[in-house]
Amino acid sequence: MRVSAVVRFREMPEYCYVAEGFEDAVRQFEEHAPLAEVKTEFAIPEKDFNTAGKGSSELKNLLKRLGVDSVVLRRIAVASYEAEINVAAHSKGGIMYGTVYDDLIHVRFEDEGPGIANIEQAMTPGFSTADDLVRELGFGAGLGLPNIKKNSDAMRLVSVAGGRTKLEFLIYFAGRFE
Ligand SMILES: Nc1ncnc2c1ncn2[C@@H]1O[C@H](COP(=O)(O)OP(=O)(O)OP(=O)(O)O)[C@@H](O)[C@H]1O
Ligand SMILES: [Mg+2]
Repeated sequence: MRVSAVVRFREMPEYCYVAEGFEDAVRQFEEHAPLAEVKTEFAIPEKDFNTAGKGSSELKNLLKRLGVDSVVLRRIAVASYEAEINVAAHSKGGIMYGTVYDDLIHVRFEDEGPGIANIEQAMTPGFSTADDLVRELGFGAGLGLPNIKKNSDAMRLVSVAGGRTKLEFLIYFAGRFE
């Protein structure tokens, strides 16, 4: 049961990105995830743009208290916010999980579908399927996913039409303990 679920997940289309210079760090993280310092979890209800954004804002406050550099903090806030809005705007709702480690943060979003038919197309700047309500609120420029990529040290988007979407990214607190 567990094994087949894993196989099916691996067979789903995905988009992966690792920023130049982070290849070794990301591989090391994936092979031996260190002990988490803090874990957060926020529900993101469908089309609720008052709640969407709260998770990234609370995460930002938490990291600020932990002393994360303000430039890095901004990148984390932007990437988390865009991803949160995407779950509210384009899916039936989902959950944001933030895991803080000694030198990086891992943020993960899992939603209830309906998934993305063409991941490469979704990653293209300017591509959007946002409906009228979402556009009236000022979203729908098709720049959220490219912006998440730009602000992350690594990201992975996994989805399939009719399925759930999973998006995750890593951002290192470079310089935090120097
Ligand atoms: N969680 C998701 N579930 C389903 N489709 C998604 C999801 N996230 C993104 N998409 C699809 O990818 C497209 C591009 O997303 P992106 O965030 O780049 O732009 P946008 O949300 O349409 O506009 P913007 O982010 O600029 O307000 C979306 O229009 C949508 O079709
Ligand atoms: Mg978006």
